[in-house]
Amino acid sequence: MYASLEELSRDILSCTACPLWQGRTRGVPGEGNPGADLMFVGEGPGAEEDLAGRPFVGAAGQLLDRILEAIDLTRDDVFIANIVKCRPPGNRNPTSGEAEACLPWLRHQVRLIRPRIIVCLGTVAARNIIDPGARVTRIRGQFIERRGYSLFATYHPAALLRDERLKVDAWKDFRAIRDKLREIGKR
Ligand code: URA
Repeated sequence: MYASLEELSRDILSCTACPLWQGRTRGVPGEGNPGADLMFVGEGPGAEEDLAGRPFVGAAGQLLDRILEAIDLTRDDVFIANIVKCRPPGNRNPTSGEAEACLPWLRHQVRLIRPRIIVCLGTVAARNIIDPGARVTRIRGQFIERRGYSLFATYHPAALLRDERLKVDAWKDFRAIRDKLREIGKR
């Protein structure tokens, strides 16, 4: 068991549990508020994240920042992580073996942070966290209560950059997340 996120991140940065470590410039453990009620989980680092060692710093990350701002949040309020902590080559999706090798890190993060809401950004996160057969288009927008966590899926911000039409539903999803957070705050 880990006592702190710092200790956990140190081990993530030297992980060799799957072949992705061989191509990494930096591992990307995730970052944010260690006591966050809201945690976001993306897919894996892209080129910019691999260089920076930080999650969601490229174009998709900038959109995520704007979305957070629209629901009165900043990165300091939430925790942002990924299914895999090292960049898959050419930004391909992580394989199921890579995801399986990496998921224990995310489980340790969740145990330390104990967020109330876990938002899966896109299909890779939804399949690894909610349901292996999930499609974001089908399961998005609903809270799924499991083991004391409210799980939720919405579009990956990169999908919103590719297809503007998805933004209408994404906006509904983020308002639902904001409302759920307010509800939790009142309890
Ligand atoms: N896309 C992701 O899924 N995660 C990141 O950290 C950056 C882009």
